[in-house]
Amino acid sequence: MPQHSRNPPDTNRRTERLAPDDAGIARAAALLAAGEVVAMPTETVYGLAADARSGQAVARIYATKERPSFNPLIVHLADPDAAERIAVFDAQARALAQAFWPGPLTLVLPLRKDAGIAPLVTAGLPTVAVRLPAHPVARRLLRAAAMPLAAPSANRSGQISPTRAEHVLDPETGLSGRIAAVLDAGACTVGVESTIVGWNAGQPVLLRPGGLPAEVLAQALGQPLATVGETVGQPTAPGQMSSHYAPRATLRLDAKTPHAGETYIGFGPLPAASLQDPLNLSPTGDLVEAAAALFALLHEADRRGHPIAVAPIPDHGLGKAIRDRLGRAAAPRG
Ligand code: TXA
Ligand code: MG
Repeated sequence: MPQHSRNPPDTNRRTERLAPDDAGIARAAALLAAGEVVAMPTETVYGLAADARSGQAVARIYATKERPSFNPLIVHLADPDAAERIAVFDAQARALAQAFWPGPLTLVLPLRKDAGIAPLVTAGLPTVAVRLPAHPVARRLLRAAAMPLAAPSANRSGQISPTRAEHVLDPETGLSGRIAAVLDAGACTVGVESTIVGWNAGQPVLLRPGGLPAEVLAQALGQPLATVGETVGQPTAPGQMSSHYAPRATLRLDAKTPHAGETYIGFGPLPAASLQDPLNLSPTGDLVEAAAALFALLHEADRRGHPIAVAPIPDHGLGKAIRDRLGRAAAPRG
């Protein structure tokens, strides 16, 4: 019966609908501090927020959305200083932040080493997407929670982005019963997602058109933005395969037992064969824990410099996203 095995969304749970007042914000902040997922209004669309420092909390975002892959997520922050603590800004990035934050603009910048952001947020990438939302309720929540919030749009994978709390709570297409709470602040004013800008060899690139027109950005920068198709070298388009971290080592999937010389990454109890210093995504076979550990373990295995073998991962729930990621990592690259 349970399609999603060990970490099914608790469908008996009622999603709290919180008023955007002091009590509602305090409640949402307390839920976030407890590692829960909460839907929050932003000026663009409702976001599905969780503590960006916690791999497990971020894994719950993916589980809730039933996203079959790990797209990197946007980190929402209360003020520019908080953004500077996790991302490296150059003069252009700082100029855009000064001109358009808070507002519907997301910047993809180098991730600081000491940022403290869970690797699942960036899907293991060396860059991070940061944004300061303008919505007063989002800003109050960010200050009350006092943490960076990872938040994709608060819809199930494949559904359209929600611009009202009713969309988030829709019993057919929404997340009712699957998340702890939604802060209801009525309709979002912008209604489309933020514009995403990144840099490729110093050249600003429009990664996703959105609420802030590209022409306005170009005017502020004094130069046009390249679009993803125009840039040479590494494309970093949202959701594109090449924008994801890939280990250098070869990767063998669905490996029930390790071969000699391989670094083994287990899931659940390890095979009896003698293993040297094996890694484990989750000794108890918990998919939330496995997702939270995935990118750190891939990096660790890669550092060891041997071929990597990964135990079979169940093909349901969060397991689908983990398998998707491993499949990309194992794909031959040219
Ligand atoms: O308006 C918005 O941006 C909304 C609200 C909730 O803030 N959020 C949103 O998130 O649209 P989401 O997850 O639906 O879209 C985030 C996009 C994805 O396409 C992802 O690939 C891209 O941002 N992204 C995030 N980090 C990235 C990175 N390091 N490099 C390239 N693209 C990145
Ligand atoms: Mg989305």
